[in-house]
Amino acid sequence: MVERRHLLQHLELAAHAFGLDQTLAVPVLPPRAAPPPLAAPAPSETPPADRPRATAARNPASAPVRPPAEPAAIPPPAATKPPAPRPAASTAGGSTAAAASDVVAARWATLRREILACTRCPLHAGREQAVPGEGNPHADVLFVGEAPGASEDRAGRPFVGPSGELLDRILSNAMGLQRSDVYIANVAKCRPPGNRNPEPNEVAACLPYLQQQIDWIRPKVIVCLGRVAAQNLLGVDESVSRLRGRDLAYRDIPVVVTWHPAYLLREPAAKRDTWDDIKRVNRLLGRPEVPAPGR
Ligand code: URA
Repeated sequence: MVERRHLLQHLELAAHAFGLDQTLAVPVLPPRAAPPPLAAPAPSETPPADRPRATAARNPASAPVRPPAEPAAIPPPAATKPPAPRPAASTAGGSTAAAASDVVAARWATLRREILACTRCPLHAGREQAVPGEGNPHADVLFVGEAPGASEDRAGRPFVGPSGELLDRILSNAMGLQRSDVYIANVAKCRPPGNRNPEPNEVAACLPYLQQQIDWIRPKVIVCLGRVAAQNLLGVDESVSRLRGRDLAYRDIPVVVTWHPAYLLREPAAKRDTWDDIKRVNRLLGRPEVPAPGR
C-alpha cells in the first residue's frame, strides 16, 4: 500500500504524466473549467485497436445478457471490507490463517482449471487458450474488460497487448498501483473469432465465471472498461457516454464505467474522461483526492 504522502506526490506527478502518450513534457490533461460535455456515443468505442473487428456494425442480437441484479444506486464507499469467509476449522498443526489461505488458493485454482477446460459455448473451439483473469484475489478494485484478443489468447493472460500496456499506465499514473494490486478479468474468457463482440449466448455461458470471481474478490469498486463490459455486467443497453459518471452498482458494489483502453488508443482526447473516472474510483476507495493537473 502506498503511503498517503507518497501517493499524493505520486498523483501530482501523475497528473502531468497521465497523457499516457509517453510524452511527459506535454501534459495531455489541461485543467478544465467545466465538466466535460458528454461525447456522442462513439460507434467505434468498443472494438479494441488490438482486436480488429470482423464486422463493423453491432449485431442487433447482441443485447447485453441481464445479470440477476439491475443497476442500483451506489452505496456509500466501504471503509473496510467485510471479513472473508473462513474455513470451518484449522488444520492440525497449521494456523487458521494458513488454512484459510489454502482454501482460497484451492478454490481459485479449481475455477481456473474449469475455465481453461470450458466448453460451455462455441468460443472454446477457436481459442488457443482461455483467459481466466489475474491479479490479487483480495483486490479492492476489479477491472472488467470485454474478451481476450489475439495477444491474450496466445498468452493466456488478460490485457497484455497494447490496450494492456495503456491499462498498466492508467493503474500506475492515476492510482499508484500495479497490476498485481488489482484484479483484471473479462466478460468472456475466450477470444471471439475475428475479435467480434461476444454473442449473448457466449456471454450468458461465461458470465457465471465472472460473477463467481466478483463474489470471491468482493472488490470495493468494479471498473467496467468499455461498452461490452458495462452493458453485460449492469444489464443495461446504454452507451459508455451515458453510463460514465453515474452512480451505478453491481449487486451492492459500486461500478465505475469508463472507456476501453483500446478506444483511448484511438481517441487520445478521451483520456481526460478516464482521468476523471479514475478520480471517482480513488474517491470511492477513500484514497486521497487527485490534485488538479498542472499544479
Ligand atoms: N481487450 C479486452 O477487453 N480484454 C483483454 O483482455 C484484452 C483486450
